[in-house]
Amino acid sequence: MSATVITDIGTLVTNDPSLRAPDPLGLVRDAAVVIEGERVVWTGESGKAPATDDRVDAGGRAVLPGFVDSHSHLVFAGDRTEEFNARMSGRPYSAGGIRTTVAATRAAGDAELEANLTRHLAEALRQGTTTFETKSGYGLTVEDEARALRLAARHTDEVTFLGAHIVAPEFADDPAGYVALVTGEMLDACAPHARWIDVFCEKGAFDGDQARAILTAGKAKGLHPRIHANQLSYGPGVQLAVELDAASADHCTHLTDADVDALANSATVATLLPGAEFSTRAAWPDARRLLDAGATVALSTDCNPGSSFTSSVPFCVALAVRDMGMTPDEAVWAATAGGAAALRRTDVGRLVPGAYADLVLLDAPSHVHLAYRPGVPLVTDVWRRGVRVVR
Ligand code: NIG
Ligand code: FE
Repeated sequence: MSATVITDIGTLVTNDPSLRAPDPLGLVRDAAVVIEGERVVWTGESGKAPATDDRVDAGGRAVLPGFVDSHSHLVFAGDRTEEFNARMSGRPYSAGGIRTTVAATRAAGDAELEANLTRHLAEALRQGTTTFETKSGYGLTVEDEARALRLAARHTDEVTFLGAHIVAPEFADDPAGYVALVTGEMLDACAPHARWIDVFCEKGAFDGDQARAILTAGKAKGLHPRIHANQLSYGPGVQLAVELDAASADHCTHLTDADVDALANSATVATLLPGAEFSTRAAWPDARRLLDAGATVALSTDCNPGSSFTSSVPFCVALAVRDMGMTPDEAVWAATAGGAAALRRTDVGRLVPGAYADLVLLDAPSHVHLAYRPGVPLVTDVWRRGVRVVR
């Protein structure tokens, strides 16, 4: 198997847990990484790197693990420019806008949906995302939800069944009937295509009891839970996530002290999605409070046409540093190793021997520039599974 060494890396972010102290990122200065096949086989000081057939000189620039975007909604059609425009002139965000995308998605053919998906994936990859999760949730019929998951599963292993995004319009007067559909026939049709099950637990979507019923039914079918929790208001989502050992409670914008405590004393990751607060002009989630309490924090895009139409993890890193109290180191960890933790993965989000060779080369001397130089396209090269897919 041929090997490649990337040498003369100014700052290498490894996220190697054994190198964590005193910094969270396991930084190595003047470093090298050796890739063989799909995997990292060696990291260390540049001068000590083994010789290989192929050599890339990083010229003092920074290398970090590819971003792990653990929360997106990429199977959809249409857009919601008008809703965004109205919001920027003062109209508040509500879950009701989801219906617009449901109608457009149902009307679209498979080819159109997949073309949309691949376009957004290519966009994300160019910005350094090498692992992504994506959800159904804009179909809300048995056939449309199963179709979304089938299409998503062609592009990622991290597929999430979100039939419980909102109550389908046909069931507006019968929410219990919709929950029965989601936990019955829809779950049967969708479970074979997904790894995860998610619920939007929120006023205007599903309450705590409905969410518990849906996630428990999913668990019985072998799906693992994650939850849209405490986004628009205080509520039971975070506590339910911890109770059910969800991999992640996502949004976490409105948290009581008990919610923060529950997350800090659990294996449930708090996934923060600042693109949503940016695009809905809502108050920022308090990352500092979660980190100080000892919770594990991830950062992801929530890329979707309604509440957060960005595929850019670097943008989210910059927002988290500027407005959510995170240091650049914490934000970069959250967007790589944190995202991996939110997907219960250790083979991505870190550059250690045995991990996938998913890595990003920045046109900057360190990862701090992701926040220091917001909006600048610093990602110049991306390797995914050992292949240089962006250069
Ligand atoms: O994560 N909160 C629920 N779902 C999405 C919004 C979807 C939409 O508005 O279309 C979110 O923000
Ligand atoms: Fe979401």
